[in-house]
Amino acid sequence: MSADEARETAASGNFALETRGLTKEFRGFTAVDDVNLQVQEGHIHALIGPNGAGKTTVFNLLTKFLPPTRGEILYRGKPITSMKSNQIARMGLVRSFQISAVFAHMTALENVRVALQRELGTSFHFWKSEKSLDHLNERAMELLDEVGLAEYADTLTVEMPYGRKRALEVATTLALEPKMMLLDEPTQGMGAEDVDRIVELIRRVSKGRTVLMVEHNLSVVSRLCDRITVLARGSVLAEGDYESVSSNPLVREAYMGSEEAEEEEAQA
Ligand SMILES: Nc1ncnc2c1ncn2[C@@H]1O[C@H](COP(=O)(O)OP(=O)(O)OP(=O)(O)O)[C@@H](O)[C@H]1O
Ligand SMILES: [Mg+2]
Repeated sequence: MSADEARETAASGNFALETRGLTKEFRGFTAVDDVNLQVQEGHIHALIGPNGAGKTTVFNLLTKFLPPTRGEILYRGKPITSMKSNQIARMGLVRSFQISAVFAHMTALENVRVALQRELGTSFHFWKSEKSLDHLNERAMELLDEVGLAEYADTLTVEMPYGRKRALEVATTLALEPKMMLLDEPTQGMGAEDVDRIVELIRRVSKGRTVLMVEHNLSVVSRLCDRITVLARGSVLAEGDYESVSSNPLVREAYMGSEEAEEEEAQA
C-alpha cells in the first residue's frame, strides 16, 4: 500500500462505501449535486427522497452504469471511481434487483447454478467432474433455502409469482458472495404479504454484510434501516435514523405534494 492509499484508508474510517463530492450533470442539469454519502460497515442504509431526487442516478454512479461528472467513490477505503462494474463486483460490491439477473425459461435451481458458475469464472472446468457438480447443486439448494425458495427449485422462473422472482434474484446475488449489496427498490410493485417476506429476507441476508437500498416504502425503511439519507433535487437534505429524519420539517416539506410518499407515510 502506498502512503497515499494508507492515508485514504485511514481517512475513510469504518465506511463500507463513501462518496465525496459526487456530482452528475446531464447537459447542464445537475441530477446529483455534491453528494457526500457515508455508509457504515454492517449497516442497512436507505437512500430515500421524492421522485426525481437523483436516487437512481446515485445508484447508477455507484455501480458504474454512469460515469460521474465530478467526485470520488470509495469502497472499503479504496478509490473505485474509475473501475468497471465487474471489477467492483469481484471486490464484493454487488447490485441486486435487476430483473435481467434471472432467466425466465430456466428453473429456480438452474438460475442459481448459472450464477454460481459465473462467480467461478475461469475455474469453470473444475465443475465438470460429477462430484463437483453435486457440490454445485448442493450449494445452489442451500442458497434457494436461504431465500425461502426450496419448494420452487424445479419450477420454471417464468411460472413463479412476482415476489418469489425477486427472492430468486437475491439468491443469484448471494451466489456472488457480496460483502455489500445495493438493492434498488426491492419491494417495488409488491403486495403487503410479499413486502413482509422481503423485509424478513433482507434482514436475514444483511447479517455480516452491508446494505444500501433505495426504497419508496417508508414502512419498510423504518423497519429495516439503521441510517437514512434523504436526497432532494440532487442534494443531501437530511441524514440520520428514521425518527430524526421523519420528524425533520425540511424532509416533510420536500415530500409534500408527493402523494405517494404521504400515502406510504400513513401506512408506516
Ligand atoms: N440520462 C438522463 N438524461 C437526462 N436527465 C436524466 C437522466 N437520468 C436522470 N435524469 C434526470 O435526473 C433527475 C434525477 O433522476 P433519478 O431517476 O435519479 O431520480 P429518482 O430519485 O430515482 O426518482 P424516482 O423516485 O422517480 O425513481 C430527474 O430530473 C431525471 O429526469
Ligand atoms: Mg429512481
